[in-house]
Amino acid sequence: MRLAVVGTGHVGLVTCVTMASVGHDVVGIDADAIKIDSIANGIAPFFEPGLEEALNTELASGRLRFTTDARAAIEGAEVVFISVGTPPRATGEANLIAVEDAARTVARYATGPCVIAEKSTVPTGTARMIRRIITRERPDLAGSLEVVSNPEFLREGLAMHDALQPDRIVVGAESEWAREVMRRAYRPFVVQGADLIETDIATAELAKHACNAFLALKISFANAMARISELSGANVELVTEVMGKDPRIGPAFLKAGIGYGGSCFPKDIQALRRVAETLGYDFPLLDEVQRINDEAVDAVVTKVKAALWNLEDKKVALLGLAFKPGTDDIRFAPALAIARRLIDEGTHVVGYDPIAGAHAQAEIPQLAVTTDPYDAIDGAHCAVVCTEWDEVATLDLERVRDLMQYPIVVDGRNLYDAIRMQALGFTYDAVGMPGAAEALEVTPTA
Ligand code: UGA
Repeated sequence: MRLAVVGTGHVGLVTCVTMASVGHDVVGIDADAIKIDSIANGIAPFFEPGLEEALNTELASGRLRFTTDARAAIEGAEVVFISVGTPPRATGEANLIAVEDAARTVARYATGPCVIAEKSTVPTGTARMIRRIITRERPDLAGSLEVVSNPEFLREGLAMHDALQPDRIVVGAESEWAREVMRRAYRPFVVQGADLIETDIATAELAKHACNAFLALKISFANAMARISELSGANVELVTEVMGKDPRIGPAFLKAGIGYGGSCFPKDIQALRRVAETLGYDFPLLDEVQRINDEAVDAVVTKVKAALWNLEDKKVALLGLAFKPGTDDIRFAPALAIARRLIDEGTHVVGYDPIAGAHAQAEIPQLAVTTDPYDAIDGAHCAVVCTEWDEVATLDLERVRDLMQYPIVVDGRNLYDAIRMQALGFTYDAVGMPGAAEALEVTPTA
């Protein structure tokens, strides 16, 4: 099939590559000429394991092309996926300008029967607005341009896996014709066992928000349990293990830490809150999810302060800056929120990350960054584990201890073994663990 993908961000580019890999003829479009040029030369604009290799394979196969020429890409396409950004406005509402622009572009250049598949995460009701634009712009194509909702469920860092072996494909459509086109587009995945769930449009749109909001809710629940564990002397790792063994609850997304970040959960929680409000349903539970998430950052800052007393002129090493391992994405990364808070109090903050340092520094110029964890740790009064990279998990802890001014580790991801850390002489403070709230009596190592 001839497919076009508008927007070559995380979702768009992964869609281009995976759709080409199952045999479709795909053209990716983006307004950013420099970006398109680099992608067309096999260079992905962000880090995603396996993406660049697959991009080069598909470019070489001739099934995948990239262009800034929307007309050339859209003319003759059977499906045009819209996968442009929907960043939050100050009110929390999703900003849908890019979606509207993309819809207008598709309407302008579509030549015949074409399904417009909205893949960006959008508030319920967006497809109706897209349809309105299309009907206004192209009354001549009435009946042969259809909008469907086709939300994407891929995780950054595992995007290629999730796109190639999706656990579900959701298509919200209003005509049998559009459903049939989407069945053909996704047949190679369904043949391999993926579940295709067909719904109406509003259901597909809402289901995507529901998934992300519920996952964020699980994380915040675990983080609330961590706070209570710290106050009561319980161990949150065991509390969530007990919870996770119940098949009705399940173990996934119950890891307490410094809170969720990334380009999806923080934005989607706010967007769903606003959507519900607009529809006349008050959903304050979502505010609580967000509040508990912010509290997870507060908890770390409080622990660092408790350990160091005055923060001015102290050096704190942040181990990991990306919002999670496997990505160089720092959007809404809790590590950056922690960095800002510490820098505001006069702390010298040095961040280590294997790949996200440059992005973090562009965001916070006062943050020093390094790709050598031992540089960050050298002379630090405290180290905070922010991202559970393997590189952080496998640090030589004796070397870490000897390099630090004070051997204090505030572990925001419960990455290390508490008994070992104590045996090595660290003052070790993990999330939701016994003793976490105890005063930190520290003697300098040097
Ligand atoms: C999330 C969803 O998991 C995907 O299913 C969805 O498609 C995607 O959003 C999207 O809407 O595009 P992603 O943002 O890549 O994917 O990252 P996650 O793996 O979900 O992690 C989000 C955050 O939660 C990270 O900061 C992670 O550290 C944190 N987290 C996750 C926890 O703190 N505890 C956990 O138990 C799990």
